[in-house]
Amino acid sequence: MRIAVLTGGGDCPGLNGAIKWVTKTALDPVLEKKRSVKFDVIGIRDGWKGLVEVDPENPESLLRHTLKLDEEIVRTWDRYGGTNLGSSRTNPFNPKKDMSEKLMENIAGLGIDVIVAIGGEDTLGVASKLYRQGIKVVGIPKTIDGDLVGTDYSLGFDSAVNVIMEEIDRLRTTAGSHGRIFVVETMGRHAGWLALHGGECSGAYVILIPEHPFDMQRVCTLLEERRGREIQYSIIVVSEGATMSVHQEFCKDAKVDEFGHRSLGGIAAYIAREIEGKTGFETRYVILSHLQRGGSPSARDRLMARWYGIAAVDMIVNEDFGRMVSFRHGEMTSVPMKDVTDHLNLIDVNKYYDTERYNGKRSIL
Ligand code: F6P
Repeated sequence: MRIAVLTGGGDCPGLNGAIKWVTKTALDPVLEKKRSVKFDVIGIRDGWKGLVEVDPENPESLLRHTLKLDEEIVRTWDRYGGTNLGSSRTNPFNPKKDMSEKLMENIAGLGIDVIVAIGGEDTLGVASKLYRQGIKVVGIPKTIDGDLVGTDYSLGFDSAVNVIMEEIDRLRTTAGSHGRIFVVETMGRHAGWLALHGGECSGAYVILIPEHPFDMQRVCTLLEERRGREIQYSIIVVSEGATMSVHQEFCKDAKVDEFGHRSLGGIAAYIAREIEGKTGFETRYVILSHLQRGGSPSARDRLMARWYGIAAVDMIVNEDFGRMVSFRHGEMTSVPMKDVTDHLNLIDVNKYYDTERYNGKRSIL
């Protein structure tokens, strides 16, 4: 039985570990004896793009778009961030340029029996559509944004939060030395999880999230309340998707990707300018951007990548297709893929966010 594994969407630490553990578990000789099926594993390069562009009859094209995986090749992959298979935001079901027929042809041409898709809402959305067309698929959740429903953990999130925390720790010394305000912009798209968790674990004074439009004057008032006190500086964490009551999202440009997303970013510069103008506090900003997706995986991402990779193969063995592996209430489980791709996991403001202090709530139970 041929397993094809691919990674789609934004890269992050943890992807390589998941590929490694799908491969190792599928090819495990001890398990192979117990199973009635023998697997081989191919990696598809650059997500759905590779599977659309490959020509199964052409050896050069096969080399460019696929990689036969074995235990030796993936041996050290779990230590490294990014994805050694490459990634893309190609949408084969793009309404403007439907490539799904080619995709179906290539799946058959490559002799693929089952696809393990590692990705977020978009990548798994494609897998879910394929499943409806009769292709066997299994999903592994990945997104630094933490916005995927159906699981309590998606690969990449913990590593990204650690980057935010480490960078803020670094900023504190320079912010303190100069008595400045620092506005730190995180990723996260329409979900504020990265900003909230990153801000909470690094003790940010103000955290602004997309789920609760903020008022610039209130931010300034919060800063003014600290004026003259022993605290000489403040850290504000803002999610790239945060908005003000009167403004829309800040976008880098007018471009839209194949899944219909705009590229968010730039709100930190605006906030820094406003603060300086309104309060006179010297203010700087930092956009953490892709640093949050870089570096090696945290311990949690390595562990979850391993568990998810193993669980994905369990699901294949059990013929449990059309589902995503999931970590729920401390246990490994799985959920139907169609249920995780039609809406996002956003912050419940009433439960987790203090709308007066613009920070994590100080009542949790
Ligand atoms: O979805 C992951 C993410 O990192 C978002 O937080 C961010 O808005 C987007 O991807 C950036 O995408 P790109 O790498 O295409 O600039």
